[in-house]
Amino acid sequence: MAVNENLRTPIVSVMGHVDHGKTTLLDRIRGSAVADGEAGAITQHIGATEVPIENIVNKCGDPSLKDKFIVPGLLFIDTPGHHAFTSLRSRGGALADLAIVIVDVNEGFMPQTIESLHILKRFKTPFVVVANKIDRIHGWEANKNLPFLATYNKQSERVKSDLDNKLYEVVGELYNIGFNSERYDRVNDFQRNIGIIPISAATGEGIPDVLMILLGLAQRFLEGNLHYDAKAPGIGTVLEVKEEKGLGTTLDIILYDGTIKKGDTIVVGSLGNPIQTKIRALLKPRPLSEIKAEEKFQQVSEVTAAVGVKISAPNLEGALAGSPVRVASPDTIDAITEEIKSEIEDVQIDTDTIGVTIKADTIGSLEALVNELKKEEIPIRKADVGDVSNRDIVEVTAIEDPFFSVIVGFNVKVLPDAKEKLQSTEVKLFLNDVIYRLIDDYKDWVKKQKE
Ligand code: GTP
Ligand code: MG
Repeated sequence: MAVNENLRTPIVSVMGHVDHGKTTLLDRIRGSAVADGEAGAITQHIGATEVPIENIVNKCGDPSLKDKFIVPGLLFIDTPGHHAFTSLRSRGGALADLAIVIVDVNEGFMPQTIESLHILKRFKTPFVVVANKIDRIHGWEANKNLPFLATYNKQSERVKSDLDNKLYEVVGELYNIGFNSERYDRVNDFQRNIGIIPISAATGEGIPDVLMILLGLAQRFLEGNLHYDAKAPGIGTVLEVKEEKGLGTTLDIILYDGTIKKGDTIVVGSLGNPIQTKIRALLKPRPLSEIKAEEKFQQVSEVTAAVGVKISAPNLEGALAGSPVRVASPDTIDAITEEIKSEIEDVQIDTDTIGVTIKADTIGSLEALVNELKKEEIPIRKADVGDVSNRDIVEVTAIEDPFFSVIVGFNVKVLPDAKEKLQSTEVKLFLNDVIYRLIDDYKDWVKKQKE
């Protein structure tokens, strides 16, 4: 076996609670490559880092392993906070092929750790749990960049048992959410058990293990999902809509199929009709070695999946994070525009049925919230993207059933005039940036009202 050219790079989403080490982990994967003198091989994308198969097998100390793998490498997505995964959507599903859930082993599970696991469970995405910051365990002797077992075996008995105990807690937390798990080296069947990999993103201990296990998962579970057509018109997902100095509104996208070129016409979802526009520039970050260059980005004429790239084009102001972006030709543009429109409308809800009103910050998080509410059999009257507005309050005021005179907002603000209005009504407002907390808060409130 060898790398199969018809398979694209698997997309790996890095998830976890704030400050548990997502960015440091990716920095370490890049940084240790710089130290090994193979910096050029690892490519920094917009919002992503690509690690080719050669780097991974070298890091694991056995270049002959390369022949065992058929994927070209791994593409890691890092966005701040824990929202990467919900933006990384593709028609009702998840764009990420694999995920890493990172947890600070000294702090344990936090709300966003649990949220991440709920989302992965729903999408049935294969993942590993990375137990980070083992170097903070009292008495830990760091062995830079060593595989986990090699450094573990050098630790004192007390330190080992301290770590073992912390890992048992992680196993217990995972069990509570419905996952069986074990330390990764004791897992025989990764389909039935989640592997927990102890690491230090600070010292690089355990990093080779993370890369190997992810490759193994990709190999076992993904082959059927990774076929792509490099020559087809590009299809991607909007990761972020961002203002850039001198460029105006830009799109950071992950392209997961086909090719996208400068000058291409693209269609991208917005709250109204989809936006049709022409690509002015495709931008990538400058290589690490050129970090002092005046300009942050460099232009490229085309890119092929899977990559992260920034698009500069006119009229992108209303574009939605989490929406599809597709290259169109005069023959296909009408059909593609219709398809994107109906995809966005499928996530939004506007019915005559009685139910709660929900608002969320992106189309991806709205979709996740709708799914979780449906699972709880909580009816939804209206679901839309955006902050809570005066109009929302007015509409909800008209609802007579007190259990549904309710607005549930995920990661949104209340606009100033809505705040004023709210005070003069009976409308109940729930706001949070963790979905399952929102739902629990609503359910608890309903229960109390009924008592
Ligand atoms: P957000 O992007 O804000 O969600 O955080 P993050 O998950 O990207 O965390 P980040 O990588 O920024 O790490 C948070 C802090 O923890 C930083 O001060 C890191 O230096 C530190 N840190 C991360 N990993 C380790 C580790 O393995 N050991 C130690 N000692 N510190 C770490
Ligand atoms: Mg970060």
